Amino acid sequence: METILWTLPGQEQLGQDLRKHSSWEEGEAECRRFPDGEVYVRWKTPVKNKRVILLASLDHPDDKILPLLFLSSAAKDLGASRVDLVAPYLAYLRQDIRFQEGEGITSRYFASILSRHFDGLVTVDPHLHRYHSLNEIYSIPSRVVSAAPAIAQWVAGHVKNPFFIGPDSESAQWVAEIATRLGAPYSVLKKQRLGDRKVEITLPELEGIQGRQPILIDDIISTAVTLIETVYQLKNKGFPPPLCIGVHGIFAGEAFAELGKAGVASIVTCNTIPHPSNQIDLSQILSGPLLDILK
Ligand code: R5P
Repeated sequence: METILWTLPGQEQLGQDLRKHSSWEEGEAECRRFPDGEVYVRWKTPVKNKRVILLASLDHPDDKILPLLFLSSAAKDLGASRVDLVAPYLAYLRQDIRFQEGEGITSRYFASILSRHFDGLVTVDPHLHRYHSLNEIYSIPSRVVSAAPAIAQWVAGHVKNPFFIGPDSESAQWVAEIATRLGAPYSVLKKQRLGDRKVEITLPELEGIQGRQPILIDDIISTAVTLIETVYQLKNKGFPPPLCIGVHGIFAGEAFAELGKAGVASIVTCNTIPHPSNQIDLSQILSGPLLDILK
């Protein structure tokens, strides 16, 4: 069956790279806003009896979600045989419990909306903290790609004698896997979040870091306060400027510049969200699960 891949504007490079690893046709659709802000969508590529894949990273999700839901509904209305979503960054996973009375558990609500509009979901390292799997909240088949092998490969080619540091317990899964792949030491720190832009990091004695390049690994860099606070702690103990690696570099507001100013060796991200720091390409490892979900 013919498959077409439509790419959200801004994500063209990853779309082209994914098509290189497949025989998918490029899908064209017009998607714009009326002067009053309402969304207009029109498929230009015929979608009847085709599989349609929408590629859109879901950073800043609220601006993107309605156009995506309308594109999916329109494709189904026009006879598409199925519509899948590839969201290299999947939003709304951090609110996974009611931290305070009266709060909404938005991860569940978002999952329920996407599950009603798509037939399948492919993503990279979703922020699964209290959930063990996307299946706990998504009712459609999903495939999760791990960025750890690509990050380990990138580090092996660029850094001698790394020492990996995860800033909080959530990062342990990535740090442990990457360090183990490279036979390098690692440590996972303790973080207490005091607010959207305030965290406290506890740095233990770091055994075996002397003479090694510290590398901070986190799945999401949003305000970057987690990494900035960790960089300050390392600096206070006299360690060399760390290299910071994020799977998903959201960089809210001035986060990228502020992390740079904190005194880092470099900032590197995977290409799940387009950004000048993208140095780790995941297109090849993403195309495998996509082909698999379409079978
Ligand atoms: C949270 O647990 C995540 O793993 C990240 O540490 C967090 O999202 C980073 O956010 P920020 O950059 O705003 O500190």
